[in-house]
Amino acid sequence: MPQSSLRKTADLNLPLEGMGVDTVLADIDEYMRYSVHTNNPGFMNPLWGGMNVSALAGEIIASLTNNSMYTYELSPMATLIEQALIRRMCEIVGFGDGNGTLTTGGSNGNMIGMMCARYQVDPLGQRRGFDGQNLVCYVSEESHYSVLMAANVLGIGFDNVIKVPCDQDGRMRTDKLSEEIARTRNDGKTPFCVVATAGTTVRGAFDPIKEIAGVCSDNNIWFHVDAAWGGSCMFSTKYRNLMDGVELADSLCWDAHKMMGVPLVCSAFLIKRPEILRKICSHGDVAHYLFHGETEDIDLGRISLQCGRRNDALKLFLAWREKGDAGWARLVESYVGLADFLQALVEGEEKLEMVSSRSWSNVCIRYTSEGIDHDAVNTELRDRLIRAGRFMVSSSVVDEKKILRPVIANPAVTREGITQFVAEIIQIGDDILRGLPASSN
Ligand SMILES: Cc1ncc(COP(=O)(O)O)c(C=O)c1O
Repeated sequence: MPQSSLRKTADLNLPLEGMGVDTVLADIDEYMRYSVHTNNPGFMNPLWGGMNVSALAGEIIASLTNNSMYTYELSPMATLIEQALIRRMCEIVGFGDGNGTLTTGGSNGNMIGMMCARYQVDPLGQRRGFDGQNLVCYVSEESHYSVLMAANVLGIGFDNVIKVPCDQDGRMRTDKLSEEIARTRNDGKTPFCVVATAGTTVRGAFDPIKEIAGVCSDNNIWFHVDAAWGGSCMFSTKYRNLMDGVELADSLCWDAHKMMGVPLVCSAFLIKRPEILRKICSHGDVAHYLFHGETEDIDLGRISLQCGRRNDALKLFLAWREKGDAGWARLVESYVGLADFLQALVEGEEKLEMVSSRSWSNVCIRYTSEGIDHDAVNTELRDRLIRAGRFMVSSSVVDEKKILRPVIANPAVTREGITQFVAEIIQIGDDILRGLPASSN
């Protein structure tokens, strides 16, 4: 339902006198009716979808027990579970003695990575304040906006986030990265962090991690990998090579709430040298009411930016116990396999085209025909597709072209559904060209 209509019809009044539990049940019905059903087979919109049942159980139990993650005393089991997850994820990345914390998402993980990088160049800043304007960070021009947000929060500023040009496949160009670092130094500023993206939001491109690690090591710059979207490739022997060299990074974020289908939010920040995470999260000993010396090593509140924190560990733990590494690998491979199938269909259709190469489960496509205004037609096409209600994909821009971006990250998506999706977008495109109204879809 369009925003304007829903605003008018939804009953959102907060009553002075409570209306009883029957109203609540009706409210839940209303809420469900107008929510996007991300477990629908036609949902191929952002970078997640569907629901892992074991993880859902973990989510419910975590709310039921309502513990907070700051101390072992308050959350003994959850603390041990989170540490077991972090240890395993560190092993998978290749951070032998690493550690980390679950966070609210890749955006937060990128910010913590940048905080660690800032600490490396200015360890005293935590006490006396930072001169962020002198620090420069580097990302690919196709990176996620969260790095800009982190630059804002950390006082570095948007202008000090250099967007390094990409090659034709959307991967950061390391020759350009080296040039930019040299230019920064000439300008008298301090390069302090490179953020590579493993799985870009639009194309699903993977920056060349090994090469970038070499540039960072030559220049003594902190190397953070934003693997929020692509990190799950590390489960698969078939796709792990997309992140070759990741063990050379200093830190990384990896969202379990994207491809792994764990309910939002569940995301890991991992670091090779844990003492730096402990330093940036330190706050003296003022919280004597909470932190007691005897469990200092295990109290997760000492390596987190949060105080009260949800238990996001249990849901990931239960899903992992259900699936095992092998189950995650099969999931990842099935998603990329379905994206291969979609690509093959698109390439077999005269009226559709791939607008980018692909390596992950993002498929950037558009409807095409000679002499049309591609951007206008594809914008209208998506609008009609969404209104028809059978499929939901996002739109975006690649190389200045308006595209449709189906992403496979939903266990309900099937080959049959993808075949119907392709038929439907061709049908809608044809209708637009023939001047038929949307209702005929
Ligand atoms: C590449 C990339 N990095 C970071 C993020 C932010 O992750 P989150 O939504 O978990 O904060 C996203 C979100 O889509 C992303 O695509």
